[in-house]
Amino acid sequence: MKAFRASILDFIDDPFISSEQSFRYFEDGLLIVENGLVLACDDYFTLKNTHPDEIARSNIEDYSGYLIMPGFIDTHVHYVQTDMIASHAKQLLDWLETYTFPIENRFSDPKIAKDTADFFIQQLLQNGTTTAMVFASSHVQSVDAIFESALEQGMRLISGKVMMDRNAPESLCDTAQSSYDDSRKLIKKWHHHQRLDYAVTPRFAPTSSEEQLEAAQQLVEEFPDIYLQSHVAENPGEVEWVSKLFPWSRSYLDVYDHYGLLTARSVYAHCIYLDEADREAMAQAEASVSFCPTSNLFLGSGLFDMQAAIDKGLRLGIGTDVGGGTSFSMFTTLNESYKVCAMNGFNLSPLQSFYIATLGGAKSLNLDDRLGNFNVGKEADFIVVDLNATALMKRRMSHTESLNEQLFALMMLGDDRNIKATHIMGERKYWTNGSVKVND
Ligand code: GUN
Ligand code: ZN
Repeated sequence: MKAFRASILDFIDDPFISSEQSFRYFEDGLLIVENGLVLACDDYFTLKNTHPDEIARSNIEDYSGYLIMPGFIDTHVHYVQTDMIASHAKQLLDWLETYTFPIENRFSDPKIAKDTADFFIQQLLQNGTTTAMVFASSHVQSVDAIFESALEQGMRLISGKVMMDRNAPESLCDTAQSSYDDSRKLIKKWHHHQRLDYAVTPRFAPTSSEEQLEAAQQLVEEFPDIYLQSHVAENPGEVEWVSKLFPWSRSYLDVYDHYGLLTARSVYAHCIYLDEADREAMAQAEASVSFCPTSNLFLGSGLFDMQAAIDKGLRLGIGTDVGGGTSFSMFTTLNESYKVCAMNGFNLSPLQSFYIATLGGAKSLNLDDRLGNFNVGKEADFIVVDLNATALMKRRMSHTESLNEQLFALMMLGDDRNIKATHIMGERKYWTNGSVKVND
């Protein structure tokens, strides 16, 4: 049994809709963890009364002066694009051809795949991300590599083999049949293996034939609790291309809907150029959106309409979308999400922001029975945040008067320097000690 003493923040309700207090905050809190799961979380002195025996038996780690929060959940990221993050290109389609496809081609080499997967997982931990929904490449070995690396750290992670049989370099293309066969084998090997889950991963409609989308449909029907991840309505040129490739479709999203790929276990990145009928279809299907602000700005894709998503009650998580996205940091990603929303007439609050990055993300991945806050029995994936990690932040924090002000300054100024430690199932997997960064 372990216990961690610090200020503690988590969410118990959705601040986008709840008029009640959506969060819990203990200035002097204690998180007790047994066998990797939350045993109790409350005010330190309250727990001293209610759980004296557990506290007596616990090894208490004192993080006083720091803030414990649930680990961040990145609902859309490409590990195979780690090495080409921040590549100067024009918009999406040019960027894909010039940088993305060539780098993904390297993942036929299992050594490159494992080396990159290890580095990627360390980046997640260093940035306080404890769960991610991850695109691999079209190579089977790229999926093995990311699952193996996540397994080594005990991380909860979802990934899948990219299905792509046209409009991409020959060497990256599979076929409808081979993508079905390979995905099926990978599902049997990895889905529900410890904390790992599989996502059927058609890259996006333009790189799949209708036959391949049918193969994806077959997998989703055959394995009802499988995830599905893809991209939709990201860029005007892409939307136009889809309307030419699928002339019968009412909209881009309609292509996926037609093949039964709009489900309560599907997560669609971007969702910028959706219309009301699309949003209604997503709401009916209970499909999730992954909002990817740094990517949408970097690739000049457009501004996500947060208000429209909220009005429809869409399930929403946030994605770094590295390498289209420009940072692994969830603070940086929230910073840019605030600005994207501001440009689109929505004033995103700090509580809403941190909710999306934690419990909201867990809900969007149907993992809120295990992750997202410190309810008793949940998996104890958490981070220890240093609000005063830089000289500027220390100065700024000394002028804040409320938790809201502190959280806002944190998301606007924060980055990986603010992550003091990252714990997976209670175990410390990453921490900084002064200026020395250590991977346990
Ligand atoms: N659409 C299809 N593939 C990709 C990708 O790799 N990144 C982004 N941002 N959009 C895509
Ligand atoms: Zn993406």
